[in-house]
Amino acid sequence: MPTVLVTRPLPEGAMRTLASALDVRRGPEPLDVPGLHAAVKGCDGIVCLLTERIDGPLLDAAGPSLKVVANVAVGYDNIDLAAAKARGVVVTNTPNVLTNATAELTWALILAITRRIGEGERLLRDGRWKGWALDFMTGMELAGKQLGVVGAGRIGRAVAARAGVFGMNVAFADVTVGAELDGHPVIPLDALVATADVLTLHVPLTPETRHLINQALLERMKPTAYLVNTSRGPVLDESALAWPLKSGVIAGAALDVFEREPIVHADLLGLENAVLVPHIGSATRETRAAMADLAARNAVAVLTGGTAITPVT
Ligand code: GLV
Repeated sequence: MPTVLVTRPLPEGAMRTLASALDVRRGPEPLDVPGLHAAVKGCDGIVCLLTERIDGPLLDAAGPSLKVVANVAVGYDNIDLAAAKARGVVVTNTPNVLTNATAELTWALILAITRRIGEGERLLRDGRWKGWALDFMTGMELAGKQLGVVGAGRIGRAVAARAGVFGMNVAFADVTVGAELDGHPVIPLDALVATADVLTLHVPLTPETRHLINQALLERMKPTAYLVNTSRGPVLDESALAWPLKSGVIAGAALDVFEREPIVHADLLGLENAVLVPHIGSATRETRAAMADLAARNAVAVLTGGTAITPVT
């Protein structure tokens, strides 16, 4: 039977799928690079999370038997694709199954930041609530405002599809599509940044999108606008965000992802107009089980002579 290394425990269903066709090897504890290199030796497949860096040295540590790396994530910036390709290793990801969960979390963040949910909850729990007042904790209404969606992939489109419920107008920025998508205009990023009331990021992390949102673009946003990021931390220059938030260049930001997870830029931690959550975009029980299941089925398919269900390239 081919051997698969599962770097971290997966939900039961996925483990059963793997065990039905493969010899399952558990990842080392703690999960450090030397441990991973030792554990992967001689494996035919790897099922890993986005927290594991899968690079040339790790692929070499596995050796020539390695045929597949199944990432339990839709993003695959943790994997050196060129190194995998050079060694004939198939890489798979988990698209589709997490689209709803990530779109829902994006809307949770949009509502949380525009209606000051985190700030209000902190104030109440601290015993600082003095009672109802007409001008107390006022936020921004969404109806009639523009949602600027950066990235017209599955998740960006799912976020846009839910905007009508809140009466928002949608515009996209994406270099890969034409002038219109799903009935919404596609405009240049510069223009989108300058006109959006809520700017939400949904691009994969690539060399082209690293620090796509930098200080210069943040300064082009409306002072009443909010930034939301549920894509990958490095798409936004995190060190450039605290000053615009502090000085009123933008109204607020809600982030699910960070440049050096689990570390968050210290300047953001004390800001009331920042909602910060710990990379939970796909974190519903249903979605996490479906992601693990899809990764397991990808590994089994490749290692039993079939083709990958959702290959990356
Ligand atoms: C989560 O961030 C993913 O890429 O699946």
